[in-house]
Amino acid sequence: MSAPLNIVFIASECVPFVKTGGLADVVGALPKALRDLGHTVRIILPKYSKIDAQKFGLKRYQESMCVWMGEGREEWCSVDEAYLEGDIPVYFIESWAYFDRPGIYNDAANRDFKDNPERYAFFTRAALQLCIDRQFETDIVHAHDWQTALAPAYLKNWHWDDPILGGAASVFTIHNIQYQGNFPKSRWPFTGLGWPLFTPEMFEDHDRINYLKGGIAFADMVNTVSPTYAYETKSTALGMDLNGVLNRKGDAYVGILNGVDYTEWDPATDHHLPANYTADNLTGKAVCKQKLQEAFQLEVNPDVPVIGVVSRFADQKGLDIFYDAIHQLANRWPVQFVILGSGDKVLEGKYMELPRLYPGQIGTYIGYDDPLAHLIEAGSDFFAMPSRFEPCGLNQMYSLKYGTLPIVRNTGGLADTVAQYDEFSGAGTGFKYEDNTPAAIVGVTGWAISTYYDRKQHLATMIQRAMAQDFGWPQSAKTYVALYEEALRRKRG
Ligand code: ADP
Ligand code: GLC
Repeated sequence: MSAPLNIVFIASECVPFVKTGGLADVVGALPKALRDLGHTVRIILPKYSKIDAQKFGLKRYQESMCVWMGEGREEWCSVDEAYLEGDIPVYFIESWAYFDRPGIYNDAANRDFKDNPERYAFFTRAALQLCIDRQFETDIVHAHDWQTALAPAYLKNWHWDDPILGGAASVFTIHNIQYQGNFPKSRWPFTGLGWPLFTPEMFEDHDRINYLKGGIAFADMVNTVSPTYAYETKSTALGMDLNGVLNRKGDAYVGILNGVDYTEWDPATDHHLPANYTADNLTGKAVCKQKLQEAFQLEVNPDVPVIGVVSRFADQKGLDIFYDAIHQLANRWPVQFVILGSGDKVLEGKYMELPRLYPGQIGTYIGYDDPLAHLIEAGSDFFAMPSRFEPCGLNQMYSLKYGTLPIVRNTGGLADTVAQYDEFSGAGTGFKYEDNTPAAIVGVTGWAISTYYDRKQHLATMIQRAMAQDFGWPQSAKTYVALYEEALRRKRG
């Protein structure tokens, strides 16, 4: 085994404390797998007011800490501490000015908070300050997405000779290249990074600030969350204008597939389910299907296929295209849909209408509901992810474990984790399609539905094969350790 490393995660969300998407699942699970490999991990998060301090046992760790920002500004904060699985310390940066409000990144109307550039610059600086003040031995600072993308630049420009952080290498993970932290340049002085770093090779993007771009430029190693997405982001089609920067990174940019936390997502032990089940005995899955149909006021019928969706309503997820396809499918086939999601208000409105238009056939719940997400994974027969792009995607991997066959667009991590059904041999674990059109979705979903009705033997063996897939974190965590070691080699020589 490699020498134990001291790793600090700096991130904007983490299960079970706060979650808006898959980033939280990863930040909550990868540290456990790293710990199991013998490494020491600390996690630093913002203390959003929606975090339930009592439930998670947050305790005051440091009463006051001074954080220096640009323009000579002093910001004061406090720090709380809790533990993940009893032994991974998690620190929460408490700031009345930046985090004491409802919402994580945006307000109730889904508008980004105007002070997001300041909120996350401050948080990232505070996290590094905590490492210094409390003398956390640090080999690796692992930052995630635009929110903490300034960390590699702070390390190289502010802390290069610091006894604690001077020797630390930085690893930066891109969970989604669409969110870049793009702000007017008038906000730059606050970061304290100075105008010399505001160039097209670093943080400047057409005379605006781009946090993600600077994170990529300064990190010792950069990765994204699946091999196919790493490849795709180097193209103009999916690189969202950062393909040039990523190509320049050469072999310092790689793809590592996310894992699944099977302590949370396993139908044999899932405490959110009305009945548990395994591949050997699927009776519990039938119970889950019945409860799901009841919960969404669908006709309770074990013999009609149910297609589930759990998603942020964001452009990336392709649910606008899927909406057109749903009408055609619901009119043409005996099939049911359950949809759980929230985000884009126009889409929310459209999906909310569907149960009225197709009573007993389509159920929608607008909101964020973790137990319901588990029930949908378990009670559905198929799980749809019509993504325009998908860096990794976790739900298709959860679906496989729950014997709920994924219907996915062949992109990013979806391409890497779902094996195409072969109608002749019965091989595969799901149904993939290429074109980003309602017609393609209708075609592939019709194919899945006809398999449900007409090729039951294939369906049964696909379910067995899907449930036997192993996307656990141990393997991916080992690849991250290799990435950390490479970052250290590049940093320390
Ligand atoms: P992304 O991070 O792009 O949203 P992922 O597939 O990586 O996509 O992860 C999404 C995670 O968020 C999954 O764990 C999924 O179950 C969860 N999720 C998304 N929307 C909801 C919702 N409305 N209610 C409950 N869980 C949700
Ligand atoms: C992002 C991506 C998603 C990925 C998740 C965790 O939100 O959209 O595909 O699974 O991050 O890495």
